[in-house]
This record gives sequence, C-alpha cells and structure tokens, in this order.
Amino acid sequence: EHSMALKITVIGTGYLGATHAAAMAELGFEVLGLDVVEEKIDMLRRAEVPMYEPGLEELLRRHVAGIEGSTGRLRFTTDYAEVAAFGDIHFVCVNTPQRHGEYACDMSYVDAAFAALAPHLTGPALVVGKSTVPVGSADRLAAYLAEHAPVGEDAELAWNPEFLREGFAVNDTLHPDRIVVGVRSERAEKLLREVYATPIAEGSPFVVTDFPTAELVKTSANSFLATKISFINAMAEMCEASGGDVAKLAEAIGHDDRIGKKFLRAGIGFGGGCLPKDIRAFMARAGELGADQALTFLREIDSINMRQRGQMVELARQALGGGPFLGKRVAVLGATFKPDSDDVRDSPALNVAGQIHLQGGQVTVYDPKGMDNARRVFPTLGYAETALDAVRGADIVLHLTEWREFRELDPAALGEVASKRLLLDGRNALDPALWRKAGWTYRAMGRPTA
Ligand code: UGA
Repeated sequence: EHSMALKITVIGTGYLGATHAAAMAELGFEVLGLDVVEEKIDMLRRAEVPMYEPGLEELLRRHVAGIEGSTGRLRFTTDYAEVAAFGDIHFVCVNTPQRHGEYACDMSYVDAAFAALAPHLTGPALVVGKSTVPVGSADRLAAYLAEHAPVGEDAELAWNPEFLREGFAVNDTLHPDRIVVGVRSERAEKLLREVYATPIAEGSPFVVTDFPTAELVKTSANSFLATKISFINAMAEMCEASGGDVAKLAEAIGHDDRIGKKFLRAGIGFGGGCLPKDIRAFMARAGELGADQALTFLREIDSINMRQRGQMVELARQALGGGPFLGKRVAVLGATFKPDSDDVRDSPALNVAGQIHLQGGQVTVYDPKGMDNARRVFPTLGYAETALDAVRGADIVLHLTEWREFRELDPAALGEVASKRLLLDGRNALDPALWRKAGWTYRAMGRPTA
C-alpha cells in the first residue's frame, strides 16, 4: 500500500477529467474536481455524467461525497482558490478543440486554466498537463508557472498525456497500456510514480521522458492510428477497383504481428473529437516549427478519410439506381462517431446522413445513445425511436456506426418493414451471409457484391 496522503485535483471535467477524477478516487486518493461550467459541477455532485460513458456513473457513485454509501473521496468545485489550497498535484484535463476554420488547435482553455490556477499557488505544487497540446506547449507553460505562481519554481510542471478511448474510458484509465510522463525533476517523477503506483504494480509500463517527447508521444500515437485506418481504407478502394475483399485482406495482413489485426476495419473512416483534429493540429505545429515536410503524409491520411464519406454517399446513390436522392427514403443506423459513445463530434455517420439529406433524400436516423446530440447538431434530419421504425418503408438501409444492437438485429424482421431489402454496411461489421440469407442485397466498401 502506498501513501494516500497526496491530495489530487482535476481541472476540467469532460471525458478525460471526469474519468480521471473518478479513477484517482478509486485508487484511494482524496480528489477535488473543478470545472468552470456550473451545470456540469451540479450534475457531477449528484454523480451524474454529462455524457454517455459505460461504467463512469457507477464509479462516480462509489466515490462522490454525499452519495449514499460512497467513500466520499471525490468532491467538486468551481473555485480555483479552493483547488490550489487543497491539492498537492493538479491535473489539467481541459480540451483543446480544433480552431474554427484552421488546422491548429485552440489552446485558450489550457491557457485560461493555468492563468486561473497560477496566482493561487502559494505552496509547492506539481501541475500535470494531460490535455493534448502542440509540442512546445509544456516548455511555455512551465515558464508561465514559474513567473506567475507566488511560490515561483516550486510550482513545477509535468506532462502526462492520456490515451483513453471513449467507450472504454474507465478501464483505459485504471489499466492503461502505458503511462508516459514528461518531467524535469526527480521529485516530479517520484510524485507521479506514487500516483500511478497501482497500475505500475499491475504491469503498466512507465515511460519517463522530457517535455517535447511526452507531448509528441500523444500526437504520434493518434497519427499512427489514423494512418492505419486510412491505409486500410485505401486498400478498400483498391479492392473495390479490382474485385478484392478488404475484410479478408485485413485479416490476412493482420496475422503478421508487426502489422497487427487492430484498427484495420475499412469503412466510412475515423471521426470524433480526437483523431481528425489531432492530425490537423500536428500538421499545423510542424509548419510552425519549419518541419512541415515531415508530416505532409498526414494530409493524405486526412483526405483519404474524408473521401470515404463521399464514397459512401455515391455507393448509396448507385445502389438506388444512380439518380438523385429526391424522393428516396434512406434509413441510417448510427449517428455517433463510434459505438458505446453518445459523441457525434465530426461523426462520419452523421456527415453521410447529412449529405444525403441535403441532396434531397428523406433520411431517418436511429442511434442507441446519440439521438439527443444528433438532434442538436442536425435538427432537420428525420429521427426514429427504434431501428425498426427507422427502417420502416426505407428504400435503402445504411449501417454507419457499428453498435452491438445492430449486429443483433433480425434481418428477416427488418425485411418485413423495409420497402426494399438493400443494405450498405459502412462499417464492415455486419454478417453478409446472415443478411443475404434473409433476402437482403448486402454491399460494403471494398468487398465483392455477392
Ligand atoms: C482515440 C484514440 O484511440 C485514443 O487512444 C486517444 O486517447 C483518443 O483518441 C484521444 O486522443 O483522446 P477515440 O477518439 O475514443 O480514441 O476513438 P477510437 O476508438 O480511436 O476511434 C476513432 C475513429 O476511428 C472512430 O470513428 C472509429 O469508428 C474509427 N475506426 C477505428 C475505424 O474507422 N476503423 C478502425 O479499424 C478503427
């Protein structure tokens, strides 16, 4: 058992912050979470989660103070002075979205967090950045802290990127693949080893680096993942052009463990709040550093990815006979950027649905968890309460987010209510044989027609 005397604060309670705060409480620490959005804090104080993330609400209920039977180790505030007075270690978990109309990411939330925290740091403290930032930010923020914290150099910075996936946030945080810390002192390293003692003891590798490497590990990991997806989507185009089967191809190359099986599912590509904006921000930063040539390949990764969405729309048009979408009824299964999440940020599914809608198609969307968010960002689409209702009367069904619920659908029952048994699988995730047996024409990108 390691010392639980360390007090931890978490600044920013979105996906990353809310999960990190709950996980720190689970590890045994006293935790204070902060957000500047009052409503978020009110919800979290009731152990309610502002987004859908499996297991997170249970974890909060176990620890949030005031919840019956909880450990009481996790509390929330909107007050930076309270945070500074409480914590030995402050994790900064605010988001860094893509700037409107630019590739670069928006650092204003990170900068605002440091500006709000620094003046209150009157005693020794370790500030740990977890947000995804352009390389070089940690150097800059360390200098900022030293200058603006009353305690000066004793307000130290460390950089500790986060690799959690939405939908698996709790598990990824408690059992990370690796823990990466960029540090400038033994004290910082020691403190972080203490914080992560449990996962380290359970076998998570602990990689100690300098600041720029820690920042780069994060963006390069996401760039690699994006590259894998666009690579297999490019192969899907080659299969499409030549009559090959990309699912078989992925399986076969994946047997080589230097390549690996994961992240080789061809389809309408990657979306969400991370991969697309991270590769763009990475390119923007490369340009600022005069190293843009190193990352020009990411532009192609991005283009391949964006092209997939258009290709799905064209596939649907061809399947419907090649004319305009006007008067066609299109059922869309899935709105979120991936399953087990209610996140529709830069969602390929919603983008495809939107394009067809804007071209005159009569689109009806169903998603198990993403309906509220989808309605908010795209209120003019049609929405149905169940998959069956979405498919009722449809001329074509598009499977665009691979929820388990969709794999468990009964093709025969859907065939009864659909106007035509025409299915496009934009995620290569349904069983073609099953649907074909029930009389459906099954089509997927990069796979033979029958
Ligand atoms: C991603 C990374 O996987 C995390 O490690 C990282 O911490 C996170 O970004 C982040 O930077 O915060 P996430 O955005 O939750 O996590 O989603 P992924 O599971 O990576 O999926 C991204 C997109 O790729 C989804 O739209 C998914 O449908 C798509 N995808 C994934 C494919 O099209 N094919 C695949 O084979 C795999």
